[in-house]
Amino acid sequence: MLSQIKDLAANLAPRLIEIRRHLHSHPELSGQEYQTAAYVSGVVSSCGLYVQELVGKTGVVAELRGTGEDLRMLAIRTDMDALPIQERTGLEFASRQQGIMHACGHDVHTTVGLGTAMVLAQLGIRFPGTIRFLFQPAEETAQGAGWMIRDGVMEGVSSIFGVHTFPTIPGGSVGIRYGALTAAADDLELIITGESGHGARPHEAIDAIWIASQIITTLQQAISRTQNPLRPVVLTIGQIQGGRAPNVIADQVRMLGTVRSLHPETSANLPAWIEQIVANICQSYGAKYTLNYRRGVPSVQNDPALTQIVESAASEAWGGDRIQILLEPSLGAEDFSLYLQHAPGTMFRLGVAWSDKPNYPLHHPQFHVDETAIITGVVTMAYAAYKYWQQ
Ligand code: NI
Repeated sequence: MLSQIKDLAANLAPRLIEIRRHLHSHPELSGQEYQTAAYVSGVVSSCGLYVQELVGKTGVVAELRGTGEDLRMLAIRTDMDALPIQERTGLEFASRQQGIMHACGHDVHTTVGLGTAMVLAQLGIRFPGTIRFLFQPAEETAQGAGWMIRDGVMEGVSSIFGVHTFPTIPGGSVGIRYGALTAAADDLELIITGESGHGARPHEAIDAIWIASQIITTLQQAISRTQNPLRPVVLTIGQIQGGRAPNVIADQVRMLGTVRSLHPETSANLPAWIEQIVANICQSYGAKYTLNYRRGVPSVQNDPALTQIVESAASEAWGGDRIQILLEPSLGAEDFSLYLQHAPGTMFRLGVAWSDKPNYPLHHPQFHVDETAIITGVVTMAYAAYKYWQQ
């Protein structure tokens, strides 16, 4: 079966590169993926899949229906949106949209999703259960997975696979991570309200700037003394505003920040932990506060058994030396985690680094991928899907 999958993928390679270059030159921003969705829908329809458009606003769902003897359903998720970045790669298929670029590899992910659908449809076997392909919009704004889930895409899904390009792994290699892959990312807004007064008479005022500084310092120290060091937390106050004049004590300070964590239990406790510190300091000095803690996406936690399926599919297909077991997670965020609240899943990293050209990070205006990775991604995903039904 592996050699059939590899042959089909190799035959499709020119078409897949054409698809990827088309997507790359026609990027669309999060939530506006209308042309991309229509294009994706056309490709999957022509493979004979059952297709639904405008799911989760601009998403596409395509199903390769099984015989029904296995009631499980496998979802394969890829994302389709681009970023507000002006491309500077100089490629002949560079973005034709001013200020919009596929700088996170979502054009590659969409192509891997399409290629996997094509290969599995052409394989000439009916799987015992259904494979549902999710082409998701708006991953960059962490909204698309939620939109798709609200429209019911996880109903009936037993397991889900995902993929993301990775520019520090060589093209043709696959990164496998057991456990936490990405961090939970939450937003924080904190407003401290004191009382204004003369800069020379602090005892008659409540200095919101000084109290804000106490809060920032205490939070950073408290992470080191009260959080489990094996369960990392990063708290960054990235924006702060307050005060009106050098000799006037500020009555209000507003701070905005991001909070990252890896362990679900730690993530769950963070809002209360932060609020307690803020409340204690404000109470000590007579200030008031408003804390708005907005939950972003949770941490992606790769399921061990499903990760094992992807790892063994990849190592059978490519040999162990092209598999990297990733020892560290990333503190970036991925809304793939929202699907994992409905079914276990795993996301693998697809190496896209060139061996003979400079490489640039994700979200860089010169980010460009080694396209041989597309076949690596398609074969790995298709063979992992095949192996899923053997379990
Ligand atoms: Ni991305």
